[in-house]
Amino acid sequence: MGNDGSAVMTDHELNQFIEHVRCQTGINLDASKRYLLESRLGPILQQFTITYSELLKVVSVTNSVENQALISAITTNETYFFRDEHPFNLLKYRLIPDLLGKNESAVVKIASAACSSGQEAYSITMVLKEILFDLAKFRVQIQAFDISDDIIVAASRGEYSKFEVERGLSDEKIRSYFDCNDGRYQVKPELRSIVSFSKQNILKPVGMIAKYNIVFCRNVVNYFGFKDRSLLFDNLADMLLPGGVLVIGATEFIDDKLGRFVKKSDKGSVYYKKVN
Ligand SMILES: C[S@@+](CC[C@H](N)C(=O)[O-])C[C@H]1O[C@@H](n2cnc3c(N)ncnc32)[C@H](O)[C@@H]1O
Repeated sequence: MGNDGSAVMTDHELNQFIEHVRCQTGINLDASKRYLLESRLGPILQQFTITYSELLKVVSVTNSVENQALISAITTNETYFFRDEHPFNLLKYRLIPDLLGKNESAVVKIASAACSSGQEAYSITMVLKEILFDLAKFRVQIQAFDISDDIIVAASRGEYSKFEVERGLSDEKIRSYFDCNDGRYQVKPELRSIVSFSKQNILKPVGMIAKYNIVFCRNVVNYFGFKDRSLLFDNLADMLLPGGVLVIGATEFIDDKLGRFVKKSDKGSVYYKKVN
């Protein structure tokens, strides 16, 4: 026990947690993150009344509630509506017109990978609403996923606080796209109807996962180590249809050696077109 009564993690346990988190999520922590691990795992020890060594045993069962709690505690879910803005202009003025310009009945599939609490996916629905007007007339679908159970449940509700909607949205957008009840703001059913949320680890082989025209996977790769970054971009290439487009975060980049994308830019945003 530490002086404040909190549990102290041994160096061996620290290294085991670091390895476990990397294997489960790709998130690359090092020993300097002891404080972060202790502060995020401490509440789990209290919740399940267990020690670090007991926690290490139970999290080895991937589907255990303790492991899900650990993943939710370790992941950083920072996000907001229309984050970085430019990718949404790219979508609005270039990508969607290119896909639907010649054939309005084309199926358009968009993924929001590592979607956190859903603001990115719902921002995409707002862009679509602004250019297509009647979403029911088009065959546009958004599939959003994240590794954290808790965050997927929150995202599916599509319900936000005043603070959350005011981060990135004008008053006009809030009025147009949300129903407000008791100070909570829920995304309108028309927008929610074209998004589905599920739990998915983006580092696992994509297998039967649907193929997308566009994948947004932003502000997650920087948490991964070198090997997992290559694995991630290979998976994302596998998820895309030929010629599909990947949009990553403003501070993220893909190593040219991967050879599966060509880098392009338009409307102030960099994007990557799948070439093989
Ligand atoms: C910082 S948020 C980014 C959210 C959103 N994409 C954005 O740019 O605003 C990172 C998200 O990545 C998720 N994540 C981390 N590792 C993941 C993995 N291996 N598979 C799927 N999601 C993952 C976290 O749970 C978290 O919600």
